[in-house]
Amino acid sequence: MRFLWLLLITGSCWFDAAKGDVLETIAQWPLLDFALPYDPHYLDQFKPENVVPTGIEIGWNRIFISVPRLRDGVPATLNFIPRNIPPGSSPQLHAYPSWDWHGAGIGDLNCSKLISVYRIRIDRCNRLWVVDSGIMTSIDDFRVVCPPKIVVFDLQTDRLVRLYTFPRQSLRPNSLLTNMIIDDVTATTCDDVFVYISDTTGPGIVVFDGATDRSWRVLHTSMFPDPSFSTYQIGGDSFELMDGVVGLAFSPQLNTLYYQPLATNLLFSVPTSALQGGPLPFGEQLPVTVVGKKSSQGLALAVDPQDDTILFSPLTETAIASWHPRTNQQRIIAFSPQQLQFTAELKFAERDNGDLWILSTRFQKFFRRQISPREINLRIMRIRFNSNNVPKPGTFYLSHQQQRIPHYFYNNTVLI
Ligand SMILES: *[C@@H]1O[C@H](CO)[C@@H](O)[C@H](O)[C@H]1NC(C)=O
Repeated sequence: MRFLWLLLITGSCWFDAAKGDVLETIAQWPLLDFALPYDPHYLDQFKPENVVPTGIEIGWNRIFISVPRLRDGVPATLNFIPRNIPPGSSPQLHAYPSWDWHGAGIGDLNCSKLISVYRIRIDRCNRLWVVDSGIMTSIDDFRVVCPPKIVVFDLQTDRLVRLYTFPRQSLRPNSLLTNMIIDDVTATTCDDVFVYISDTTGPGIVVFDGATDRSWRVLHTSMFPDPSFSTYQIGGDSFELMDGVVGLAFSPQLNTLYYQPLATNLLFSVPTSALQGGPLPFGEQLPVTVVGKKSSQGLALAVDPQDDTILFSPLTETAIASWHPRTNQQRIIAFSPQQLQFTAELKFAERDNGDLWILSTRFQKFFRRQISPREINLRIMRIRFNSNNVPKPGTFYLSHQQQRIPHYFYNNTVLI
């Protein structure tokens, strides 16, 4: 087994601005606001202090935002805002595709509609893939109200084009489907893709074969939370969460799926060929590799499609870092205790010149019920790798060989 430490020797790395990086705020909110329908029940049941998004996806004209029902009071679990908004504004969220799909926001639980969505992805055919967990109030009492499903909308028409309900065999009693990768490497149509889905509390990875409408699950000890990493430090706050596999990223060139539980400091990978062949025979082990070790836990992962660099966001360091597994080159792409508090998404947006989009939330404050409506708690940001932006006040601009990385960033010096 290959074992590389992700972060190198203390003091030997430098901030690097090779790509002219800076955090650009697209939209930001103290608390989310919705363009609610006329039905007054939506307003009655709305609890803004319980509403924290975990997913974004960038369409040609719209930014999609998924808001799982972690607690009660979420009006709509899938929403959009227009792309052409004034930078840094706080637009109202619009339910997607319509309020008709979000009866769960007023207690009307219909399993044909959307219940609770953690993440969404757009495929090459401009269709929005939605994994619906089917779980209400997952943080508070984890109510299993519907089987989880995949719902696909055509973004040209905003109509449902595909629906797949996961069978019981692909699930466990406490399954919580939270993230997905669409693998279209071998696809010949819009539909014969593989989808890899994280089951955070099951735990495990569920594989959906779009060609045959089948699904199965794989499990490896690396997908479990590590109890010694279940306490998270962000700024002055600390909180505990025993979450298994949730961060996913994919390299189509290397045919590799990367993943990490929330409660770990390790990053793992598995060849997609090992996932695609159907359920493993009993007793056979998934060929998992420990890719490296991070300075703290993290949620979001991404692979740069240009050169297979892995991007991650160690929570405690409130940073976005990159690491190339072959060259071992490491960089801090952005650092901001203010703006990068709980980075839930890192995405290279195909519909935005491949620029990097970021969703950062003060999840820890929502979780601890200590959110302040007088501060900015939710941010959608972008790093334009290809343009020379002027750094904004409050952004820690990373200039080449000027600034040493803070010492706490690296906690290990071993390279095997
Ligand atoms: C659930 O929604 C479907 C699709 O709109 C509808 O046909 C069905 O009648 C609804 N079920 C209930 C119990 O309201």
